[in-house]
Amino acid sequence: MRLSRFLLPVLKETPAEAQIVSHRLMLRAGMIRQEAAGIYAWLPLGFRVLKKIEQIVREEMDRAGGVEMLMPTLQLADLWRESGRYDAYGPEMLRLKDRHERELLYGPTNEEMITEIFRAYVKSYKSLPLNLYHMQWKFRDEQRPRFGVMRGREFLMKDAYSFDVDEAAAKRTYQRMFVAYLRIYSRMGLRAIPMRAETGPIGGDLSHELIVLAETGESVVFCDKRVLDLPIPDADVDYQGDLTPIIDQWTSVYAATEDVHDAARYEAEVAEGDRTETRGIEVGQLFFFGDKYSAPMKATITGPDGVDRPAQMGSYGVGVSRLLGAIIEASHDEAGIVWPEAVAPFGVGIINLRQGDAECDAACETAYAALAKAGRDPLYDDTDERGGGKFAKMDLIGLPWQLIIGPKGLKDGVVELKHRGSGERETLPLGEALTKLGPGRP
Ligand SMILES: Nc1ncnc2c1ncn2[C@@H]1O[C@H](COP(=O)(O)OP(=O)(O)OP(=O)(O)O)[C@@H](O)[C@H]1O
Ligand SMILES: [Mg+2]
Repeated sequence: MRLSRFLLPVLKETPAEAQIVSHRLMLRAGMIRQEAAGIYAWLPLGFRVLKKIEQIVREEMDRAGGVEMLMPTLQLADLWRESGRYDAYGPEMLRLKDRHERELLYGPTNEEMITEIFRAYVKSYKSLPLNLYHMQWKFRDEQRPRFGVMRGREFLMKDAYSFDVDEAAAKRTYQRMFVAYLRIYSRMGLRAIPMRAETGPIGGDLSHELIVLAETGESVVFCDKRVLDLPIPDADVDYQGDLTPIIDQWTSVYAATEDVHDAARYEAEVAEGDRTETRGIEVGQLFFFGDKYSAPMKATITGPDGVDRPAQMGSYGVGVSRLLGAIIEASHDEAGIVWPEAVAPFGVGIINLRQGDAECDAACETAYAALAKAGRDPLYDDTDERGGGKFAKMDLIGLPWQLIIGPKGLKDGVVELKHRGSGERETLPLGEALTKLGPGRP
């Protein structure tokens, strides 16, 4: 991408309305634009990161046996009356009417709709387990939308819904999602800890929230700091096998949200020096809720014994749009965002220090073509802004690598390569820099 043909409206001033660093940086880096309270347009740079995050979630869901689909944002109120949640949900639900006076709502979550789809098609235990997911915009009319995409009113969620023949099978599905979630966040460069949690309006009796520790988080949490060092399962983890050892390892170390915190257990189990009472950002949640929806909505299946029973269900959410904020909270410095490679909007930024100089332009074009060909997704700053401005902008948007090409260096046959994360710089011939950045590079 050539910057001159892109839309990157960076702000020099710190926006006054933004209280936390991720919100400030997302506005300053021209990633989002507020259209109404808690409702954002995703500008091209933000959109690229959103898509990267979505793709990681998709890959790990598929690996763990998820099947992707897409449900609509608008739902019929009558569907929610079947589960009894239409009246129970309260003012967070956006309710509307169509021209025929039919009552609709903008979905805050999809348990009812997926249960309706399931009961229409699936009748036998032979079709189970089934784990359906989608990535779809949700609307919750939050009382206090704030912190940018962290607490929006319209936000993107990955939500998965599982169906099993009995509770034991449903718990195995829960375990698969637990492991998938460990991998999802870790691939984004985040340390998200599964913590025992309250189930809230989704319901059920078994739940974990995935929490990224951060001072700016809205959840109060208690954990044993040893949980921070537990190993993340590899990509070749056997989802067909017994995952209990992994789950046991993670759940035997104390980690709980405030709502379910057990002070006596905490003090008994956690050595004083390991006690960590802090705040965190909820980036996902796992729920097992059995027949809470399948029983009232009559989503029954015939078991191997020929007897009909309600399917055992769980649901599993990832806050896809909130994750941009969480990642920035965890990875930034005074100059701006420091994207982990896996979610960076572009792989390399090319800075031309003298646009219009034949030699500089030619070297930049060579680099741009080579890096594009190598799949490194370069962003070429081909504008005529001065060097200082270009440097500040590149640091602000946080691409992992910067390739700096100027007339002085080229006279000596060299360019500069800067690693955004470590700040390390290296001067070397262009060809070598391109080899370094080549396809083999992480
Ligand atoms: N208003 C929001 N803005 C952005 N992301 C959200 C919002 N509400 C929920 N999410 C994300 O969606 C995920 C799944 O939704 P869930 O129903 O568990 O949310 P929740 O528990 O109500 O969230 P919270 O406690 O933060 O309000 C959450 O873990 C969170 O990451
Ligand atoms: Mg939650």
